[in-house]
Amino acid sequence: MISATVVGASGYIGGEVIRLLINHPKIDKILPVSREHYGKPVSSVHKNLYKIFDENFVDLNLDNINTDVVFLATPPGESFNIAPKLLKKDIKVISLSADYRFQDVEEYKRVYKTEKDDINEEENKEFAKNAVYGLPEIFREEIKKANLIANPGCYPTSAILAIFPLAKFKEKLEVDKIVVDSISGSSGAGAKPSLFLHHPEVHDNLKPYNVTNHKHRPEMEYILRPFFDGIKLSFTPTLGSWVRGIRTDVHIFTKDMNNDDAIHLHDFYEKFYEKEPFVRITNTPYIANVVYTNFCDISVNYDEHTNRILLISVIDNILKGGSGQAVQNMNIMFGFDEKSGLIFR
Ligand SMILES: NC(=O)c1ccc[n+]([C@@H]2O[C@H](COP(=O)([O-])OP(=O)(O)OC[C@H]3O[C@@H](n4cnc5c(N)ncnc54)[C@H](OP(=O)(O)O)[C@@H]3O)[C@@H](O)[C@H]2O)c1
Repeated sequence: MISATVVGASGYIGGEVIRLLINHPKIDKILPVSREHYGKPVSSVHKNLYKIFDENFVDLNLDNINTDVVFLATPPGESFNIAPKLLKKDIKVISLSADYRFQDVEEYKRVYKTEKDDINEEENKEFAKNAVYGLPEIFREEIKKANLIANPGCYPTSAILAIFPLAKFKEKLEVDKIVVDSISGSSGAGAKPSLFLHHPEVHDNLKPYNVTNHKHRPEMEYILRPFFDGIKLSFTPTLGSWVRGIRTDVHIFTKDMNNDDAIHLHDFYEKFYEKEPFVRITNTPYIANVVYTNFCDISVNYDEHTNRILLISVIDNILKGGSGQAVQNMNIMFGFDEKSGLIFR
């Protein structure tokens, strides 16, 4: 049995990490941290947990955290301040924000345009270099040995899992002009209210945003580049009118794939992900099939008319796109069954 702390426990991702850990057979203690709500019951914020988890939030005090693992479900930039102190105490850390997703802190700063003086760059350079990108389907062996996990972004999870198997065919693809279009439910933006996310603005609506410059585009390219030399993505996210779930469409034009490879692409994907517990190749890539689960469902299509591969990938942004993937990483780090606490509907 192990113990776990959740920092940012009052947020959407933190609340779901708690819910998953309550039901996890290998967790015997959960420390929920909230700076705003400390002293109050967790169920005062996460009403779904009333009479299920009756602990109070505790304040953020790193000296008092001595659990085996800590989940950092905090806004971008905060893990850089918190993780080093925990790692020095030999505590395993799973960071759910963008911090450490780039093994170079300078790259992070370029993408997130932060000039935060309080990022201890010298110290974090080393930690970032050794952090493992927590996408088990690609980096499982590295995750087993890791002390620090950079849990992937939600959009990147859906896109990378769709694109990655095509590395085998990269010579036959137009890798420098891959188009990725995503639609996400409003929970992707977290619990903080804003006019953009206000119900009357979102309901019965589709709102494109950051249409050519979303921060997840560099993350996708950064992770895929070693497998697809020269990769370039055009990424456009849209805010949908539902709460949970992402649909990502990937369009890849091929050079000369109008042959057996193309026809058998679906079978190739099935074989590729055959042993993966949380990836399903399907002809019905519906958000409704994956919300409240840790699955990523992918449909694989070839359009002979324009020699285009069309991949449709759906996930629950809060689970496979965040908290569920984080628990999957914890399972791998501690040698538990990878599916522990994650098979439910
Ligand atoms: N929502 C998604 O679909 C999704 C998916 C994948 C990854 N993520 C990433 O996961 C992280 C959490 O996302 P979220 O959607 O749960 O956001 P959220 O609902 O806004 O929750 C973030 C929590 O972090 C805490 N916090 C804020 N500033 C802090 C600080 N300086 N130090 C410690 N705690 C602080 C806040 O709690 P207190 O003020 O009560 O302490 C807040 O409840 C973000 O980095 C996000 O990008 C989100």
